[in-house]
Amino acid sequence: MTATLKPIRWCADNTLELLDQRWLPSRHETLRITTAEEAAEAITSMVVRGAPAIGITAAYGVVLASHQASGDDWPAVVNASIDRLAASRPTAINLFWALERMRAIVSAHSQHETPPFAALLEAARAIQRQDLADCMAMGEYGADLLAREAPKAVMTHCNTGALATGGHGTALGVIRSAWARGLITRVHANETRPWLQGARLTAWELAQEHIPVTLAVDSSASLLMASGDIGWLIVGADRITANGDVANKIGTLALAVQARYFGVKVMVVAPTSTFDLSLASGTDIPIETRGARELTHQGERAVAPDDIDIFNPVFDVTPAELVDVIVCERGVIERPDRAAIAQLLAAEIPRAPAMP
Ligand code: MRU
Repeated sequence: MTATLKPIRWCADNTLELLDQRWLPSRHETLRITTAEEAAEAITSMVVRGAPAIGITAAYGVVLASHQASGDDWPAVVNASIDRLAASRPTAINLFWALERMRAIVSAHSQHETPPFAALLEAARAIQRQDLADCMAMGEYGADLLAREAPKAVMTHCNTGALATGGHGTALGVIRSAWARGLITRVHANETRPWLQGARLTAWELAQEHIPVTLAVDSSASLLMASGDIGWLIVGADRITANGDVANKIGTLALAVQARYFGVKVMVVAPTSTFDLSLASGTDIPIETRGARELTHQGERAVAPDDIDIFNPVFDVTPAELVDVIVCERGVIERPDRAAIAQLLAAEIPRAPAMP
């Protein structure tokens, strides 16, 4: 991602600018978002996508709601917008995590005459800044793991880069950091049907930084892994449950099964905002299914019979036993299980000493 491209940008006129990811890389268009409703619609329609990025966008959506709400009932109005934003996509927990942070600020100010616009804006900006800082930290932790062995190629799925986060990326952040340290030789990006996030976004992000990338159809992964050239499968996550099960882009489960068979290690990279300790296991994760047209058409062209039954889940759940390591901003969990996750998430985070 070049320094000038910003997928999510709060503007001086109190609107939100989103890079429209549906048309990348062929068209670079931005959308001006002026209401919480528009922010919710942008998340549902995939203008912006990727778990951390939709959390950040939703937080700014609450800021927009607070900018417009007035009158005694402003808390009810803003809370209704939070509910609307929460209904935009069901699987990524980062969305709900960000909205609960914003809702807490609304609650704390509910006796005030006007909405806490400045506090909400600062909170949304902090979520965005923190996500970038988390991605940078995860990049180094993940690269440290790759440094244990001689450089090899890695495989990734979907898009987990700067477009999907506050910057740098989760899985793609590890790949960026590892490439900068000479720890990988090449990236194999799966195209990621049906939205082609791997082809349109990941291959594009990597190519811009001259990181060697090979794009392949999703179903060639076994062939590639069987070749012995791939050291790691590195993916992001939309939700990780208390036992370490991982919801991520559809196809991740198949890749993890293949990886275990072929001796490829599996690394999941996600900030702690992706953990949902309220769910015991992945069977409880709500899996988003999307419309038939995503499978029956390519643009305007029909590629399936009319009225065919369609199954279009956009995430699946990889059991913890197929995951070798989870990397988050607090560190690394090897062979993740309930105890190891609880221990890392409960640990005190060292704080920088106070300035004198
Ligand atoms: O449907 P998408 O494009 O929002 O799915 C994105 C993914 O599955 C990513 O792997 C996940 O959100 C992690 S992004 C850092």
